[in-house]
Amino acid sequence: MDGFSRKRAYVETYGCQMNISDGELMEGILAADGYEIVDTPEEADVVLVNTCAIRERAEQRVLGRVSQLTGLKRERPDLVIGVTGCMAQRMGKTLLEQAPDVDLVMGPDGYRSLPERLAALEGRRSWTSSAKRRGPQLAVLDLDLGENYEGLEQRRTSDISAWLPIQRGCNHRCTFCIVPYVRGPEKNRDPVVILQEVVDIAASGVTQVTLLGQTVNSYTAGDWDFPRLLRAVARTPGIRRVRFQSPHPNDVTPELVEVMRSEPAVCDHLHLPAQSGNSRVLKRMLRRYTVESYLEKVEMVRAAIPDIAVSTDIIVAFPGETPEEFEDTLDLMRTVRFDDAFTYKYSPREGTPATRMPAEDFIAPDEAQARLERLIEVSREIQAEITASEVGRVVEVLVEKEARTDGQLLGRTEGNKAVAFPADPALIGTYQTVRLVATTSATFVGELVGDGALVESA
Ligand code: 5AD
Repeated sequence: MDGFSRKRAYVETYGCQMNISDGELMEGILAADGYEIVDTPEEADVVLVNTCAIRERAEQRVLGRVSQLTGLKRERPDLVIGVTGCMAQRMGKTLLEQAPDVDLVMGPDGYRSLPERLAALEGRRSWTSSAKRRGPQLAVLDLDLGENYEGLEQRRTSDISAWLPIQRGCNHRCTFCIVPYVRGPEKNRDPVVILQEVVDIAASGVTQVTLLGQTVNSYTAGDWDFPRLLRAVARTPGIRRVRFQSPHPNDVTPELVEVMRSEPAVCDHLHLPAQSGNSRVLKRMLRRYTVESYLEKVEMVRAAIPDIAVSTDIIVAFPGETPEEFEDTLDLMRTVRFDDAFTYKYSPREGTPATRMPAEDFIAPDEAQARLERLIEVSREIQAEITASEVGRVVEVLVEKEARTDGQLLGRTEGNKAVAFPADPALIGTYQTVRLVATTSATFVGELVGDGALVESA
């Protein structure tokens, strides 16, 4: 590609952190092929919408956005629009039929071929001559057991924090979950390559790394398991904070807890999806643990790291969940007292085992909504009590960005809690000590103590 006709690409990402990381990978692949990465679809020759399939709502949102973007084609028929990621994989050619102005659908294992696919679209289009005529559409939907994206570089733009996928796909078959069908089985990356990437990340001045995998703590490669990898990442010079997401409860082992306890760089935060507080429901979800064993894991972690923040994911109204079983989930919330909880209504995903449960098991939308609201209420109440009890503490935050309120910055504690405090934007990217002085609904209000405070008054 010559300098005069440098193509511009725009990637818009929805969904989980793995998807954000995939978005950076697509940008990296396109940048390496000579594309300029731009910040708005209006500036772009190629628009990629990187999608999520986890719940129906996520997909509806994206479909709306895609139709908005295809509207841009009215003025610019040459614009190429691609839909990538999990929803592209799940819907495949149906998506191309439903959205005829979309040129390309590409699943999570297809990104390596993006440049050649885009070039092919371009080529085919030029010989269809009429710009008005819809060009041929392209579907890249093969799952590839060998595709780890080794040798390709993510385009990391944050100076503060880096996403680092160590594993792709999932070997579990939780009956509600679409992920194994759209991302394929578990594939673990080479630890040597991962650790070199951590060194490079540190060399670029970034101090926080989040290791990503669908069941990140089941990572295994040769003699390496997750605790060993986590320790090595945490000991990389220049890395000050390591996070990982999301672990599966069954692979929370004493070895992992020991690494978390003994390595100062590993954040005192564990996001441990429980999904339900009832063992019969968990069994029907095929989560492979009971409420008792989940609680044992949490106790083990808290015994070693008393101040650790614990957060979770919960699904309500899974098919067949009785009112009493839902109450058990509320009990789990009260027993564990999660620092944070991401709560969802069960959303049927075509092709997953739960959708084949007896029709009478499916819970009416009103009832599901009522359960969700009750769960949120209980979880917020507990969260408010926890945050109130933490006011007065002096904690270290990594300063991430300017807050919405003027003159305020936003930092994050090791426990992943947001703190807003007045300070000079020059502190963004640094670690500061702040005193938690109050809470708002979702964040702490803080004030700088120590060196940072001096900078602020200077
Ligand atoms: N319906 C509702 N929530 C779901 N999740 C995954 N699949 C579904 C579904 N079909 C939730 C789980 C998971 C989180 C990322 O999304 O709680 O941990």
